[in-house]
Amino acid sequence: MGRVRDALLAFYDAHKRELPWREGVSAYATWVSEIMLQQTRVETVVPYFHAFMRKFPTALALADASSDDVLAAWSGLGYYRRARMLHAGAKVVVRDHGGEVPHTREALLELPGVGRYTAGAIASIAFGQEAPLVDGNVVRVLSRVFGIDRELSPQDDELWSLAQALVRGPRPGDLNQAIMELGATVCTKDAPACQDCGLSRWCEARRLGKQAVWPRLPRKKAPRKVAMEALLVERRGELLLCRRREEGLFGGLWEPPMVERSMGDRRDASELFAEVLGCPVEVSGVASVVRHVLTHRELTVTVRPGCLGAPDAMTCAGPYQAARFASRDALSTLGVSRLSRKVLESGAEIAEKKPRRGKLR
Ligand code: ADE
Repeated sequence: MGRVRDALLAFYDAHKRELPWREGVSAYATWVSEIMLQQTRVETVVPYFHAFMRKFPTALALADASSDDVLAAWSGLGYYRRARMLHAGAKVVVRDHGGEVPHTREALLELPGVGRYTAGAIASIAFGQEAPLVDGNVVRVLSRVFGIDRELSPQDDELWSLAQALVRGPRPGDLNQAIMELGATVCTKDAPACQDCGLSRWCEARRLGKQAVWPRLPRKKAPRKVAMEALLVERRGELLLCRRREEGLFGGLWEPPMVERSMGDRRDASELFAEVLGCPVEVSGVASVVRHVLTHRELTVTVRPGCLGAPDAMTCAGPYQAARFASRDALSTLGVSRLSRKVLESGAEIAEKKPRRGKLR
């Protein structure tokens, strides 16, 4: 354990990337960065982290912000539940901890959206505690170094025990980051650079030539193919957007009305939209077809320009809790997913070319 530990810290000292959340930052910054880094690559996170910290520099600033402001800052980063939970967590930090991120793993685990990975990251990186963590990179490094030949996930108890044993000693935050960094940059999934790895002397996968086999991961389910319809309504240069209910996928985000078309449902698109908007809808043709891949779903969205028969009667049912017309400039102040941006952009040219229609108010 000691040799692996030393090699990890030596690697980290020599090769760690300069990242904005690494030097002299607050526990709050560690928290924000670790939430953003879940399921998301470092290169993607960096600009979002800078913008988010400028906008919400403290837990207090975040707690005071509106849900739309927080989701606007998260727009395009995906997995929006993370933003909602971080926002809720900031409110708890202000209410119960005087605005200071709590120090102990136990208190951290009480915060919304903080599981044992995030608690371990904050406790070790920000507060120097010997708290372990396991994420996908850690699974890869530990399974290869220690030769664990069975199906693994980041919840695996043996991996947590190994991570706990490794993190005991000086510089626990650096040690945890070293394993993740090695997994991200050297001990990669498809092309591990064993010749450059300071751990290769003690690595079971290297010794047995099992790098391509370990870690054994659960087989991923094929994404479900989903057909959707999206409605683009433009009124005096503004676009109709609906806000999704807070709970559930894309909760709190604004989007052009979208409905799923179940297999075998042959109803007109206008009927499907009328159901969620609570008023008659007229659609005119197809502007475009947008494809978008999410973790578990592969979406094909038919984008249709249209207009509302009785906009004042609009009620928003199903997944939506509110609706409004917004200018293109106002889009940057609202949470809008990448899928919705694609849909809006795909219809933009058509909307510009389209003659003004009498029913559009
Ligand atoms: N992945 C998630 N958090 C990380 C960190 N602090 N360093 C390197 N990789 C990470």
